[in-house]
Amino acid sequence: MTELEALRSELMAAVGKAADLDALERVRVSALGKKSRITEMMKGLGAMDADARRTAGQALNALKTEVADAIETRKRSFSDAELDRRLMQERVDVTLPARPERQGRVHPISQTMDEIVAILGEMGLAVAEGPDIEDDWHNFTALNIPPDHPARQEHDTFYLPGAGGDERLVLRTHTSPVQIRTMVATKPPIRIIVPGRTYRCDYDATHSPMFHQVEGLVVDETTHMGHLKGCLIDFCRAFFDMDDLPVRFRPSYFPFTEPSAEVDIGCTRKGGEFRIGHGDDWLEILGCGMVNPKVLENCGIDSARYQGFAFGLGVERMAMLKYGIPDLRTFFESDLRWLRHYGFSALKVPTMVGGL
Ligand code: PHE
Repeated sequence: MTELEALRSELMAAVGKAADLDALERVRVSALGKKSRITEMMKGLGAMDADARRTAGQALNALKTEVADAIETRKRSFSDAELDRRLMQERVDVTLPARPERQGRVHPISQTMDEIVAILGEMGLAVAEGPDIEDDWHNFTALNIPPDHPARQEHDTFYLPGAGGDERLVLRTHTSPVQIRTMVATKPPIRIIVPGRTYRCDYDATHSPMFHQVEGLVVDETTHMGHLKGCLIDFCRAFFDMDDLPVRFRPSYFPFTEPSAEVDIGCTRKGGEFRIGHGDDWLEILGCGMVNPKVLENCGIDSARYQGFAFGLGVERMAMLKYGIPDLRTFFESDLRWLRHYGFSALKVPTMVGGL
């Protein structure tokens, strides 16, 4: 065996034995690097005569290429093996059944909104939406709340920095500005509900700076207080799932409705226990009224021809009452244990037919 053949089998064996990428790199340096035997033998070529030099040179170059190819092939087999290993390890069996202990739950706010939308949707109201960042005109002025009106302070508004007047930006303090947007953009008849986020600078066990409301608005030529009462009595009874739930309308004041009322439902607080239904006590749950003719006119609707009713309710309050949740702040703490306890199955979508 010539010296070259011996070197060849030695190097190929070393490549074959290299157990990982690091070992392979060491083989490469010692076989092909500046101090390798191949390089040394190359240096020896100068002392040979022309014919011998050509033959030996070609043989050395062939060996160099062969060893380099073998290293490259071995390297690729390492990364293929690494990929196979990772694919096996990170495998996901998509045919496995869902793990109940890991299943997500629907937040009580979403559930309550879906229930409210299901009931009012069944009555023929369609969902409308508007921006969380409103301007002063839509949130206050058009709703007949003039600049110096105390309602603006009561609302504890989050104002955004920038211009004053009607263009001043605010985080909407109620969903009522969507009434304005809808009446400006469309002609009556109008029948909408507006679920959404609202903001007021307030924080304790019954107030959160961000909370949710659902607004209702119906405008037509013959809409009257009887429609308002029928709609809200039916709504309350369906929501609390109580056919004979007592509902009472108590005169109140809102700048955007005239006359205005607050709606109370019957309840009892006997013996420290709170229960909704027949009893000797009342609980306020929403505000409502006939749309103030000034508001219709602000939106370009002829108040001699059209009239409407509107109402607004707080979603957190409704959820707390229906599902016995004592502290409003827990809604927004994202505590998984709380969500598992008070959350709802994602597959039980509330409908009037399927049940709430
Ligand atoms: N916008 C009122 C509030 O936030 C609720 C309301 C809406 C009252 C519509 C009457 C009519 O308190």
